[in-house]
Amino acid sequence: MKVVAVLGGQWGDEGKGKVVDLFANRFDIVARYHGGHNAGHTVKFGNRHFALHLLPAGVVRGRMGVIGPGVVLDLDALLKEIDELEAAGVSIGENLMISDRAAVILPYHRLLDAARERAAGDAKIGTTLRGIGPAYESVAARRAIRVAELFRPATLAARVGAIAEETGKLLQCMGETTVPTADDVIANLGPCAERIRGHVGDTGRYLRTRLKSGATLLAEGAHGAMLDLTSGTYPFVTSSHCSAGAVATGLEIAPGALDASLLVLKAYSTRVGAGPFPTELREDTGEYLRKRGNEYGTSTGRPRRTGWFDAVVARTAVELSGASAVAITKLDCLDELDEIPISLGYKLDGQPLSALPALAEDVARLEPEYEKLPGWKTTTTGLTRYEQLPSAAQRYVRALEDAVGAPAVLISTGPRREETIWRPETPFLTGLPPES
Ligand code: GDP
Ligand code: IMO
Ligand code: MG
Repeated sequence: MKVVAVLGGQWGDEGKGKVVDLFANRFDIVARYHGGHNAGHTVKFGNRHFALHLLPAGVVRGRMGVIGPGVVLDLDALLKEIDELEAAGVSIGENLMISDRAAVILPYHRLLDAARERAAGDAKIGTTLRGIGPAYESVAARRAIRVAELFRPATLAARVGAIAEETGKLLQCMGETTVPTADDVIANLGPCAERIRGHVGDTGRYLRTRLKSGATLLAEGAHGAMLDLTSGTYPFVTSSHCSAGAVATGLEIAPGALDASLLVLKAYSTRVGAGPFPTELREDTGEYLRKRGNEYGTSTGRPRRTGWFDAVVARTAVELSGASAVAITKLDCLDELDEIPISLGYKLDGQPLSALPALAEDVARLEPEYEKLPGWKTTTTGLTRYEQLPSAAQRYVRALEDAVGAPAVLISTGPRREETIWRPETPFLTGLPPES
């Protein structure tokens, strides 16, 4: 298996950063294929702690990082992240290539994101306010500024001018009084563009050529299957496609190049922002899980909503990406519970249902059907061998595997790299490139 994707199977924050870091030393290249700095991926080992937003997590391991054309790029955010990493002793050096076809997020996109959310009132999505949705709108409307255009001053001025005029009017209608001029925006883009100039290139061609000559590639998913623009809980989703289907277009490689997908699943569920969440826990148990799991956004610091594991969500995500294995994270966060319900299906209007309905208003009416599993009431934090897990914890892991129809290649028992139980016998692991 030379090309593998690591993807989120719920509503994001499943622990993709940790899992990508665990596998990165088996791959030559780690690439982001969608999303932007709405993502927040955590990597921890020893006493080191990194929060990545745009840079593929593999750069922490010194791997070649690629930001593909499917990503929407905020230059200020990218440069801040590079500076922070360098200050922490991780030098990017030559290890970063940015697609000349990626779209640039402009201040207008951020202002539009905020204005739309304000206007929506109670119906707001709860976006990260990073301008992600409006930037993808510009892409689809064929008005976006591509990274390559940053180095063509005359074209850039004309195209930013057009966006400034159009979105400026729109923003003023929406009550926004202070809209930056095109000149201000261009003045800020100039120095940022100069700093990334040496990293910009045709990443699609680069990846196809490297793959042809035997290189290995890990595609780093952001967000999660239920935030996918098509298959998620629309309209409470992000504006990119999160599942394996988007790897090919987001990196400009052939669909058949992807050999396998690994789905990251938290042992329970969380969601940030608005939108239906069938197994959501309110009040005490929800607050308990939030505190125990430290469920506060990596990008925005917002408290995450918490709930029980939802097997329909996870199974749908496995099917959407054709995942041959899963990584189960945060098992340790369930250590103190007496019993742990998992939802195996739903009822809607009294009828059984084993798939998610198309409309968010129907997803909001689902009544989960729970099976209660016994807790293990002992610490699993930091365990590294499956046999060390109490039998009730092993039973819980088996129940998740059975419910989603894929084996767990690893079980995470703490935020750090070291706090991981590997399952060396799983075919997914034996099929991977060796560590290097
Ligand atoms: P991502 O967006 O999927 O990369 O996930 P985030 O990094 O946003 O959120 C996952 C959070 O859980 C981070 O704070 C991780 O450090 C932490 N984490 C990951 N795996 C585990 C685990 O097995 N146990 C515990 N307690 N924390 C974990
Ligand atoms: P990672 O990669 C959790 C959510 C936002 C909001 C919705 C739309 O760290 O798992 P957007 O700003 O994308 O237009 O917001 O999507 N969202 C995430 N939630 N983790 C993420 O990324 C997310 N990226 C977007 O909270 O509900
Ligand atoms: Mg995150």
